[in-house]
Amino acid sequence: MKLLTGNSNKPLSKNIAKYLKSKLVNSSIKKFSDGEIYIEINENIRGNSIFIIQSISSPANDNLMELLLCIDALKRSSAKNITAVIPYFGYARQDRKVVPRTSISAKLVSNLITKAGADRVVTVDLHAGQIQGFFDIPVDNLFATPIFARHAKKNIKSKNIICVAPDVGGTERARALGKILNVELAIVDKRRPKPGQSKVMNVIGNVKGKTCIIVDDIIDSGGTIVNAAKALKDRGAKEVYAYITHGVLSGEAVDKIKKSVIKKLVVTDTIDNHDKIKNVKNIEVLPISALMGEAIKRISNSTSVSDLFK
Ligand code: R5P
Repeated sequence: MKLLTGNSNKPLSKNIAKYLKSKLVNSSIKKFSDGEIYIEINENIRGNSIFIIQSISSPANDNLMELLLCIDALKRSSAKNITAVIPYFGYARQDRKVVPRTSISAKLVSNLITKAGADRVVTVDLHAGQIQGFFDIPVDNLFATPIFARHAKKNIKSKNIICVAPDVGGTERARALGKILNVELAIVDKRRPKPGQSKVMNVIGNVKGKTCIIVDDIIDSGGTIVNAAKALKDRGAKEVYAYITHGVLSGEAVDKIKKSVIKKLVVTDTIDNHDKIKNVKNIEVLPISALMGEAIKRISNSTSVSDLFK
């Protein structure tokens, strides 16, 4: 078994390699002067099982293309099998036609990854679990919930906690954390007048005097979380925490979080945000490398991955 990294999140790839007491395959990923990506694998990988680690994070198009070209290079170098390890699976939010005449990017990206030659996909907190069905190869969807639960148990001392889904789509995720923490669930009724804009219509559940933990898969512009946190405070919440797997944090998101009522935003390092959030007091990053490394080990040894979440 060997690990290869793309350029999207090298610190995470190095930490996964460290967990597995392994090394990253020697490779060169460069760009021609017109921006085309060029990949070369600098060591023999014939007959090896290869795990290529690459998030489809910003710049999403470059990182996706890098992933596809890496898979292609591995296939043409006679790797025995190729697992695309995609800590953050970008392009997943368009998973159906919500209005007429739009694309379903999650399906197209799934097709591209399969067509390039991947035999398996490993990812974390897919935007919607059913995206697994867009693939005709095995997909292991890992959950950050146990990592968040451990952190919350250790750091949030309140006895009056409630988990909050910031929209109806996030109910299952918030319920999963609520189940481990043995607390109730509230749901924010969010509407999106336009992509990138969100509006809170209502909060279902009583949050008065409670410590609210918002749980979500993605924080992108920050609008969803900041608006949800304000709505919770307006309804009497004592304090608001947010546990969100993928810190996309585009545009002014970090600034919005800094100025918001959120006591702490906790994200994982599926996306490399080191420069964006260093010295931001109310954002904390939890490492995902042990979970991913363990999943890779189990896949490699053909042992159960789901046991990780029991
Ligand atoms: C939406 O369904 C997702 O789960 C997130 O809530 C959304 O992508 C967050 O986006 P933003 O931070 O831009 O509001």
